[in-house]
Amino acid sequence: MTLLQWVLVLSVLFAATTYGWQSNIVKYDARSHKLTYQRDGEGNVIPDFSYSGYHSGADIPNIPVVKTLDWKGMDDHTGYIQAAIDQVSSLPINNTSQYRGALLLRPGKYNIRGTIRIRASGVVLRGSGQGHEEKTDTILYALGDNPHQRTVVIAGNGKNDHWSDQVQGTKTNVINDMKVGDNVVKVEKQSFKVGDTVVITYPTTDAWLKSVNYGEPEGDPKWTPQDQFPIIFNRLVTAVNGNEITIDAPVFNSLKRSLSQSYVYKYDKKNTPRHIGVENLRIDVQTNGRPDDENHAWTALSFVGSEHVWVRRCTMIHFGFAGVDFSTTVYGTVDGVTAVRPVAITTGGRMYNFCASEAAQQILFKNCKAADGRHHYVSNGASRASGIVFFNSTCDNNFASSEGHRRWSTGLLYDNIISKSKNLALGIYNRGNYGSSHGWSAANSVAWNVRVVNGGSICVQKPPTAQNFGIGCHGYVTGKKPPCAFSKNQGYIEGTNKDGLEPRSLYEAQLAQRKF
Ligand SMILES: *[C@@H]1O[C@H](CO)[C@@H](O)[C@H](O)[C@H]1NC(C)=O
Ligand SMILES: *[C@@H]1O[C@H](CO)[C@@H](O)[C@H](O)[C@H]1NC(C)=O
Ligand SMILES: *[C@@H]1O[C@H](CO)[C@@H](O)[C@H](O)[C@H]1NC(C)=O
Repeated sequence: MTLLQWVLVLSVLFAATTYGWQSNIVKYDARSHKLTYQRDGEGNVIPDFSYSGYHSGADIPNIPVVKTLDWKGMDDHTGYIQAAIDQVSSLPINNTSQYRGALLLRPGKYNIRGTIRIRASGVVLRGSGQGHEEKTDTILYALGDNPHQRTVVIAGNGKNDHWSDQVQGTKTNVINDMKVGDNVVKVEKQSFKVGDTVVITYPTTDAWLKSVNYGEPEGDPKWTPQDQFPIIFNRLVTAVNGNEITIDAPVFNSLKRSLSQSYVYKYDKKNTPRHIGVENLRIDVQTNGRPDDENHAWTALSFVGSEHVWVRRCTMIHFGFAGVDFSTTVYGTVDGVTAVRPVAITTGGRMYNFCASEAAQQILFKNCKAADGRHHYVSNGASRASGIVFFNSTCDNNFASSEGHRRWSTGLLYDNIISKSKNLALGIYNRGNYGSSHGWSAANSVAWNVRVVNGGSICVQKPPTAQNFGIGCHGYVTGKKPPCAFSKNQGYIEGTNKDGLEPRSLYEAQLAQRKF
């Protein structure tokens, strides 16, 4: 944003302080942009979510066009577009902009029988419009089902390896206990530098599992060290001081040495592409016309193995699994994207319109529209997904709830979501024996000023050792079953159906505090 835009945002935030109310656990001073958080007796606190998104909330750049493709009559345009992407991918990276350039697709309906891959750093795929008019818009029309349930566009190196590439000799133990929200790590052996990417791992031990009652999967098999993924955090080192490192975003779970010995290593990101964008186009999927057809392309756009990436002003329609999905990706922004009318059987594993899958971290979804799916705004990455912000977005005609989906996702923020749901709109809660031992599906997660406008509900429950928060939300907000799926303790709920919560947006206030 420009300075003028920031001034406008801040004056709106400031104007809001002349009336309204504040949470007892998040105090806000609009003049200094300062937020002060109160920890509970267990050490739980609302963490800082503002590091999510492309360069932790930086403006998405407008990258100049370096190549333009005209639509031509063809049975399959996959190779035609891929060759142009590969050509842009072979241009040098401009060391000022950090991009190679944008490929512009002129209007038309492009038949895609395969998968388009954007593997190189610094490449933008840009259409001419996201509508359905062949004359003015760019439509990638996914035809056929070979291979079965494929993804139409994959951005990144395609490796979903959860950042396992360690730089030799850097792995070392974390020697301090960390609480949720902390960002100082004491290491046994210091070898880190400012600018390094590190991965902090909290291995799954029986002692940790015991502290969370083995996930409370209600009759399903309890979580075990074999099937419950470790909690991992991908972070940037921002300061080094003696045997301490400061990391950009906080940890979203407490890391207690008496339960599990955490370790940290430098991640070798030389093979991780960055700065990939997709914008201004429509991805549509051909189906057989029946609402439960499953033999068609399954996900419109996936980011797999990438960082500092974005998609904006796009429409995804008729997918089966997701409109936009992330795995092994950090710092992604989805801005102004519509994902509607999925086509699949309305059951498990389908219709996750906006999805943060395994090792999706610091991902920001904003100004989005979801409709007609099951889990519209969802973390499906278990304990490897965290730092997921869903902001200023809408939800209509949902067949299941937005939620942390399974097995201890942490640090989810639902902020200014407007849902027309008549049933459970949002759950940061226990899912018991749903799926395969889903149990506690979200921890240290927040619903802030979420509005459920059609009689639907929000479930906020308290996981053992952690907390979930529902502050200033509208609708029926509770920890009770029903509408919750299982009987558990209620989470922290405050100011339900009370207008004038300050700050109006937690995410915006946190970002503003950091920028000033
Ligand atoms: C950008 O910087 C890299 C590494 O410093 C260098 O190899 C490359 O030639 C530069 N590219 C341009 C276009 O100057
Ligand atoms: C490199 O990027 C900068 C900043 O976007 C721009 O001003 C400059 O013209 C670009 N250089 C080339 C050779 O395209
Ligand atoms: C929220 O989203 C709407 C629709 O995309 C947009 O017009 C508006 O500017 C956004 N508001 C904020 C505060 O970002």
